[in-house]
Amino acid sequence: MTAVESTKLLQKWFSHTTSPFIANAPMLGFTDPEMANAVNQAGGLGFISGGFNFKPESTHLSDLEKSLVNTRSITGTTSTETLPIGVGFITFSPVGFENAVTILAKYRVAAIWLAFPKADIDHGSLVQMIRDSQKKNGWDVKIFVQVGTVQSANEAIDEGVDVLVAQGTDAGGHQWAQGAGLMSLLPEVRDAVRAKSASDRIAILGAGGIVDGRGCVAALGLGADGIVMGTRFVATAECPAPEQIKQTIVSATDGAVSTVKSVQHDVFQSTDVWPAQYDGRAVIGISYTDSQSGVTDEEVIQRYNDARKMGQDHRRTVWAGASVGVIDAVVSVDELIKGIQQEVKEVMARITANI
Ligand SMILES: Cc1cc2nc3c(=O)[nH]c(=O)nc-3n(C[C@H](O)[C@H](O)[C@H](O)COP(=O)(O)O)c2cc1C
Repeated sequence: MTAVESTKLLQKWFSHTTSPFIANAPMLGFTDPEMANAVNQAGGLGFISGGFNFKPESTHLSDLEKSLVNTRSITGTTSTETLPIGVGFITFSPVGFENAVTILAKYRVAAIWLAFPKADIDHGSLVQMIRDSQKKNGWDVKIFVQVGTVQSANEAIDEGVDVLVAQGTDAGGHQWAQGAGLMSLLPEVRDAVRAKSASDRIAILGAGGIVDGRGCVAALGLGADGIVMGTRFVATAECPAPEQIKQTIVSATDGAVSTVKSVQHDVFQSTDVWPAQYDGRAVIGISYTDSQSGVTDEEVIQRYNDARKMGQDHRRTVWAGASVGVIDAVVSVDELIKGIQQEVKEVMARITANI
């Protein structure tokens, strides 16, 4: 089976989506039901984030349930219908994940996204938990796993997931500290799926540095069936991000220079709870330049906390991918998705005309 044939898997599973398939990343703090619904309305697959704490008393779980109630009402979905959005989880601390699955089954979400386990193999038991609930509840859900290496892709294939989100190191936000760009990663992930004769049951999405139709065509050419974007969706009217963060993304140029992969972005905001194999790409901001010029971590953290106490966002880490320089305006989700799908056709026609 070819990449083109497996593209049809996504449109079969998510029948409201148009081609090429586009999903927003489930960005913790940067998505909400209104945004996910806007992505769906434009022909994409909308994701919200369910967070990373699954203990019964967790506010992540109570917030998730509120969001799903809200999504049902916005989308006019009944309790027996599939809720047409996905929910993403950060899985490095999976204690109590069964509590999340109970909520997801109750609302019958269409997709679950797992990312950033302590060890890739940890996803095996979570996938099993979802499959058991799926059988018990007659629930139609697809499992997405974000992978940043061929090894993690192979493990996810063996665990029986439905979609591999191949994340390259141009990506905004957290990612494998030692990884590769999509140019290298995607073809090898496609080969891994083929080698396991899994192209008829597993779709591949490319994520990392894709912000327009050119990047989308490149990802499709490299072996993806569709794309995921994070940074580009932050700079949309519907994204619940502070205006300052959207403007930082819009005004940044030359992502090779203006962004950097580092664990320090988390240190500065006291969110350095991540396993050692992950770091994050963000715009180089005041905290990072302070640190580079010799200010101690303690002092940088103090300055960050003082600014936050005063309600200021200018010291917040602006997670953003290396293609940030190409983003020059805040647009609506509809404009973004339909614009990229149209641009894909134009780029394909230009390529065809020139070969
Ligand atoms: C602001 C921001 C927040 C993110 N949060 C998450 C998250 O909570 N969970 C996750 O799996 N990935 C997260 N990511 C990474 C995305 O899943 C995706 O790999 C990345 O956005 C792709 O690169 P791009 O930003 O260049 O499009 C985040 C990315 C950004 C930019």
